[in-house]
Amino acid sequence: MNYLDIAKMAARKAGTVHKKYFNKDLKIRTKSASYDLLTVADTQAESTAVRVIRKYFPGHNILGEEASYVRTDSEYTWVIDPLDGTSNFASGLPIFCASVALVNKGVVAAGAIYDVTRDELFYAERGKGAFLNGKAIHVNRAASLKQALLITGFYYSRGTEMVRTLKEIERFQHERIRGIRRLGAAALDLCYVACGRAAGFWEFELSPWDFCAGKLLVEEAGGRITDQFGSRLNPYKKSFIVASNKKIHSSMLKVLNYR
Ligand code: IPD
Ligand code: CA
Ligand code: CA
Repeated sequence: MNYLDIAKMAARKAGTVHKKYFNKDLKIRTKSASYDLLTVADTQAESTAVRVIRKYFPGHNILGEEASYVRTDSEYTWVIDPLDGTSNFASGLPIFCASVALVNKGVVAAGAIYDVTRDELFYAERGKGAFLNGKAIHVNRAASLKQALLITGFYYSRGTEMVRTLKEIERFQHERIRGIRRLGAAALDLCYVACGRAAGFWEFELSPWDFCAGKLLVEEAGGRITDQFGSRLNPYKKSFIVASNKKIHSSMLKVLNYR
């Protein structure tokens, strides 16, 4: 079993937990804000994914969103979002996934993102291309913002960050883009850029578990992913995220840097 096989297995097994609880009458807890939700599916999907990883690589670090931070001296860290799109999940909206990435010395080496509702497994290994259910995927050919369908996300904070995102949406609309969507699962948003369903995606501040696997997918599919200034992402740190098919990247950065 190589790293990618384990990433795929962990993401799929987290997906079986999603399936078990989706559309069931779950107790919904909240985190710091009343709209930041937590369900039994989040915690169980995480422990399930972690179990897979620990079985094969007991010496590796694990950074899971909900609980499982395992610290070792290893240069390998597994970064896991056990359920990305919890608000959708808790509302019965079938747009959510599990995301598993392996980071080695600051570089994402392998990643898998699984959407159980569509049975779509997106995965990539550094230098070996990106795939959806066994087929190679590529970013789309939109050459300008006018040809672009974009996806965005709202950071949980409803303060200045949200005002900023709303302003950015307005600025993109003035560029006469094809449309803007807010789907509610950042890891899937990145998969959709990788497979050409969208030309670009941006969001104010995502966490490593939201973007690590998706970053590798976008890059291996021929796209580009940076922060709002066009700088490289640090896979251990929160960041503003701009992902694109590469062709529209500089135009997106121009719209986002208006100060
Ligand atoms: C959230 C989703 C959402 C994004 C938020 C994330 P969660 O992750 O990816 O689309 O807008 O910033 O925190 O909480 O559902 O894992
Ligand atoms: Ca997430
Ligand atoms: Ca999550």
